[in-house]
Amino acid sequence: MKLAETVSPDHVQPVEHNLMPALAAVPDGGCLPNPFYIEEAVFEEEKKRIFAPNWTCIGFGKDVPNIGDARPITFLGIPLLLLRDKSGQVRVFQNVCRHRGMTLVNEPTNFRGVIRCPYHSWCYSLDGALKTTPHLGGPGQNDHPAVSKSELGLYEVRSTVWMDLVFVNLSGDAPAFEDAAATLTSRWSEFEGQAIYHGGPDSSFSLTVASNWKLAVENYCESYHLPWIHPGLNSYSRLEDHYNIIESGDFSGQGTTVYNPSLDNSGRQFSHFKGLSEKWSTCAEYVALYPNVLVGIHKDHFFSILLEPVAQDKTVERVEIYYTSPEMTGGDWADLRARNSEMWKEIFVEDVGVVEGMQRGRHAPDFDGGTLSPVMDTATHAFHAWVADRYSRTAL
Ligand code: FES
Ligand SMILES: [Fe+2]
Repeated sequence: MKLAETVSPDHVQPVEHNLMPALAAVPDGGCLPNPFYIEEAVFEEEKKRIFAPNWTCIGFGKDVPNIGDARPITFLGIPLLLLRDKSGQVRVFQNVCRHRGMTLVNEPTNFRGVIRCPYHSWCYSLDGALKTTPHLGGPGQNDHPAVSKSELGLYEVRSTVWMDLVFVNLSGDAPAFEDAAATLTSRWSEFEGQAIYHGGPDSSFSLTVASNWKLAVENYCESYHLPWIHPGLNSYSRLEDHYNIIESGDFSGQGTTVYNPSLDNSGRQFSHFKGLSEKWSTCAEYVALYPNVLVGIHKDHFFSILLEPVAQDKTVERVEIYYTSPEMTGGDWADLRARNSEMWKEIFVEDVGVVEGMQRGRHAPDFDGGTLSPVMDTATHAFHAWVADRYSRTAL
């Protein structure tokens, strides 16, 4: 059985076939209908059709900074283990012992040698191999011919890291991440391969939103709401200073042509990424990399928002901010970093009200998905089209 087939509880009934006409209409300008935001059954289907077959983000490399660091993560109900192995590579395993299915790691830990199961002490190396099975064959007998240790390593999940974001492909058969994200990485080629440095505790915060995860994506994609929801931001980066970002890849969003950070009156500026072309002296771009990552790139910092879908009407937004050099993460820059975090937090909190309002609105029985502006909502439409396509690929 594939991992992707295990994520829906039995009590949730499959989605009604009558959603399919609405999905079929999405490419021609239609919107995802209400059940895509409010029904548990659709949320359960999305686990199999949207999250498992694609590259879904579950965490950050900075969560396991040192060799041997391991962090349990429950994502979409699946117990996972994020781990940095002896070679320094981030790996993801299912967090389950091959003996009796105990969760192996139950709090963030650093393993110097092996990972020891707390139940009967079976031990695994950091690359997942089962190494020792004490008293397996009876007291004092650590092996038994019927149990082949070499076949009982941890279940590894296909994973990759990009911009410190840890993505997993639960179904195991998605195209390579490099191919899936190629359009975005080529759009941002000037930043590719440049190191980023997390700002530390002052550059990290979470928001819990009473909304479906897709509304967080949709709100992030567009700048149409800027004058009314972000009056502060709009005072220096107006609606007409923004442009839509629509390409063929699995992302859409918007950018500004007037990014000019002025966080305090000192005139200090965070150091910039190296070798950027003229465009990036004033442009900054904000895109949703489908399904569940929102990223923002600027000449002087990068941020990402991991959307953790907790339920059809609850999402945790985890925000992490990165800078361009180790110096920017030190004490001399703490005040400016804190101000930058505050500024973004204010903006993202301003968004919470409308995202939650759209969620409530989707209980209005006659709401038909809405009416998109053919000019201002194109990034939202691109996302709807992507969801409809991916959702429809799996036959009911
Ligand atoms: S469940 Fe892990 S050793 Fe028994
Ligand atoms: Fe916003």
